[in-house]
Parts: sequence; C-alpha cells; structure tokens
Amino acid sequence: MKDQEAGLFAIDGARALELAEKNTIPTFIYRLDILEQRFRALRTALPSRVRLAYAVKANPHPGVCARLAALGAAFDCASEGELALVSGLGQRGDRVLFAGPGKSDKEIGMALDLGARIEADGMEDLEAIDRHLAARGFSGTLPISLRVHPGAGHGLAESSRIIGGAGPSAFGIDEEDLDTFLIQTRRFTRLCVSGLQVFAASNERNATRLLANHRAALAIAEAMTTRNGLAIDLIDLGGGLGIPYSTDESHLDITALGQGLGKLLEDNAWFKGELLLEPGRWLVGPIGVYLSRVLRTKHSRGSDFAILEGGVNHLLRPALTGQSFPVTAAGVQGKKQATILAGPLCTSLDRLGTLDLPPLARGDLLVFGQAGAYGFTEAMKDFLSHPAAGELCIEG
Ligand SMILES: Cc1ncc(COP(=O)(O)O)c(C=O)c1O
Repeated sequence: MKDQEAGLFAIDGARALELAEKNTIPTFIYRLDILEQRFRALRTALPSRVRLAYAVKANPHPGVCARLAALGAAFDCASEGELALVSGLGQRGDRVLFAGPGKSDKEIGMALDLGARIEADGMEDLEAIDRHLAARGFSGTLPISLRVHPGAGHGLAESSRIIGGAGPSAFGIDEEDLDTFLIQTRRFTRLCVSGLQVFAASNERNATRLLANHRAALAIAEAMTTRNGLAIDLIDLGGGLGIPYSTDESHLDITALGQGLGKLLEDNAWFKGELLLEPGRWLVGPIGVYLSRVLRTKHSRGSDFAILEGGVNHLLRPALTGQSFPVTAAGVQGKKQATILAGPLCTSLDRLGTLDLPPLARGDLLVFGQAGAYGFTEAMKDFLSHPAAGELCIEG
C-alpha cells in the first residue's frame, strides 16, 4: 500500500477493518512498537549531549508515557495534570521539566516537590518560586531556566502559526527585554538562572530551518553568558520536529538534524552543558490512527460530503490549522473524488478536511493517519455531548 509505505498510517486498511470489528469505533489506536522504534531512532541520531524530553501535551495517554519512561525519556510538562501523570510514573528530578506561559502557585509547588527544572516565563513565575522556597526554609540556590521569545534579528524559520515567530507572543521574555529582566532577577538570592528555553517554530520538517532556529537559541545563551555573566548549563531548544500530513510532504531528516546539532556544539565550544529537545508530534504523531465510520453521504451543489461518526469533538486540528490528516477508506475501491469530511455535530464548524476518496457509503470505515499527536486531548470532547472517542494501545 503506497500510503503505508510513505509512513503516514500506523496500520493498514485490512488491519483497521479487523480492529474495527473487535473494538468500539470511533477510536484512536496507538502502536507502542512504532513509538519505541521512533524514540530509539531519534536517540541514535542525536549527539549524546542532546537529551530528549517528551512533550506530554502531544499525547498524554498513560500507555504512551509509560513506554517512553521505560525508554529513558524525560518529560516536558505544562500543567498540573501532566505533572501528576509523570509523577505517577515515578519521574523525578532532571527527568521532569515544567514550562508554560501561565503557572499557578499549586503547579509550581508540585514542580518543586518533584525536583523538576522550572522554565520561567516571567517575573511572576520567579516570585512564586521564591515564595515557595522561602516557605520551605530553602537556604540553597535553585537552578532555573528562562523561556526567551527571540526577536526578528535571527531570521527565524517559522512553519506554523501554532507557536513561534518573531511577533508579539504570550510566551517567555522578549529577547529585547532580557538584559533588564536579568538585572531585576538578581534580587532573588535563592534562584540562579542557568538555563534557557527557546521554542521558535512548530511542525518544521526541514532540518536546516530547525537548525537555524537552534543556532539563534545558542546565540542568545552566549549573550546571557558574556553580557550577563551567567553560567548556562541547559539549553532547551523546544519541540517542533515536524511530520508529513500528506504523501507530497517530505519526512524530517533526523540524521541531518543530529549532525547539525553536533556541529552546533562544536561551533559553540564555550557551552559545556546539555542541549534538550522536547519533541511531541514527531514521536507520537505517526504511531496513531483514528478510526471512524461514515454515517451519511450527500452530493450538494457540486460537492460530495461524507458525514462521519466523529468530528471536531474527536479531532480538532484540521479546523485549527486548515490542514487535513491523511485519510484512506478501508477496503473501499473506486475512482477517487474530492470529498468533504464533516462530523455529526450540529455546527458548520464541524469539518475534518477535503480529501480525494473513493465513493463512500454508510458504514464505510475511514482511517486517519498521523493521528497520534494533538488528537484525542486537543479535541472539543464535550461540545454537543456526543460520545467520546476511545483510545487503544497495541503492539505490532
Ligand atoms: C514548550 C513546548 N515544548 C515542546 C512542545 C512540543 O512541540 P511539538 O509537538 O511540535 O514537538 C510544545 C508544543 O506546544 C511546547 O509548547
């Protein structure tokens, strides 16, 4: 099967039909064996001074996170729920990072309890961490990282409007304000800024463009060292490793990424610490499919529609980004025609994209590929009160 070869579907049509017979549909299915292969391949491609922290937000399914924990991944958490999840998996200390543009006192307390590296986005975060430390009678110095929102000067490569770019942002400290910010942080005698987080672009499939952003991050870290006298031991380059969502999109060359990061470390001999990547989508997108059946079809004023059992209550990404998931109709033959996929929700927002598919009928099973990331938990689960999708982990 051509699409399967392109790596867009974790299971093929025949297996999808078999699984649909045995399980309640609609459902997401995640292949943990592919997850393991991907983690190992990425680990092998990267220099040893690059650590991997899985961005839990991409897919917080406990089976997925447990497998990554067993493989030695660290975890990038961005909420109370994610911290609780990784804590339940026994993760502590440098296996946990805590980031996010708005952090509650409770979350900061949980992160401190776990010994997580906190990536502060602004002064409020530092004040809250300091208050917690004072209340705990902490007398040492806690290493923390700052998230910096880079400026336009670096020629950042941005591939998606989801995150990044050089314009206004709710994330982090704007690069042009960093010097002033760092002077103000000197009053926190219990805190020591020794890390930087920069996440400039998401779903980027071009290694050269990713590396250009990483080079910009190292330049900011170097400036923090030379201008502000800080000893930086951790540079978190964020996530953003992209995946194709159609057969005409290429795969990210992780070997080139690994070699480029090696070169970056070589070129920045002043930096003796660790780099960190926080991939979410790249690790889990390709391990998942979403299965849903057709409820109804309609030919309307020149357009073909298929109305499915699940819509934006199961998969929101197409409505957010305008980009469809790859879709095949399991076991259905016939000349392909542009088909608008709509969900069962009583709103015209409920669209899952327009794809070339064979003529469909009620009961046909559609397989959505690359659906392991930003699927189940990103959707508008409760809107219109339809049943939630299922989730299932399988091997092989
Ligand atoms: C701080 C941080 N790290 C990592 C990620 C994961 O990004 P991706 O799934 O594109 O790899 C995100 C996604 O929003 C993020 O905000």
